[in-house]
Amino acid sequence: MGITLRGVTDADLPVFFAQMNDPEGIRMAAFTAKDPSDSAHFQAHWARIRQDPAVIVRTVVDDGGEIVGHASVFGPPEGREVTYWIGRQHWGRGAATAALRKLLELAPERPLHARAAADNLGSIRVLEKCGFVVTGNERDFANGWGEEVDELLFALPD
Ligand SMILES: CC(C)(COP(=O)(O)OP(=O)(O)OC[C@H]1O[C@@H](n2cnc3c(N)ncnc32)[C@H](O)[C@@H]1OP(=O)(O)O)[C@@H](O)C(=O)NCCC(=O)NCCS
Repeated sequence: MGITLRGVTDADLPVFFAQMNDPEGIRMAAFTAKDPSDSAHFQAHWARIRQDPAVIVRTVVDDGGEIVGHASVFGPPEGREVTYWIGRQHWGRGAATAALRKLLELAPERPLHARAAADNLGSIRVLEKCGFVVTGNERDFANGWGEEVDELLFALPD
């Protein structure tokens, strides 16, 4: 799948909102917003990250211009972290891997960090294909599950 990263527009937000309210996606990601269906919270969050110079956030679009998801880099200089979300109808076509590879070109600092629920095999595979290695694990409360979940910590070395 050919993909491009571009700046986020207002028109992308309803697509992201729907993607991030998909129960299967929430189950995979596990560490989600407390209430992903809270539109006001979603709007405030996106307004904040879009104007934050420390956040690189991009819309992932396919060759047909369809919005397939988003990818971002955030966090303090000593702990920059990547995250991404692909809409379910686009899963399994290489979108996340291609998006993360392009995002890494926009964020030259190393190490970069990432997290994934220990059973999120798709995200773990995406990270490993892009060169991330497991550096540890934690067990934290995951809003998407309503309980504690094992989480793997990753880093992309120099
Ligand atoms: C996880 C996610 C990003 C994967 O996106 P994707 O575009 O389907 O991933 P890709 O097509 O690039 O797949 C990359 C690899 O992962 C594998 N993979 C993808 N989903 C998988 C799954 N559910 N189980 C096992 N392997 C999976 C693919 O087979 C591929 O491996 P391969 O190249 O060895 O065949 C996507 O399912 C998603 O956005 N989920 C909801 C949000 C989320 O979990 N975000 C990450 C939070 S850490």
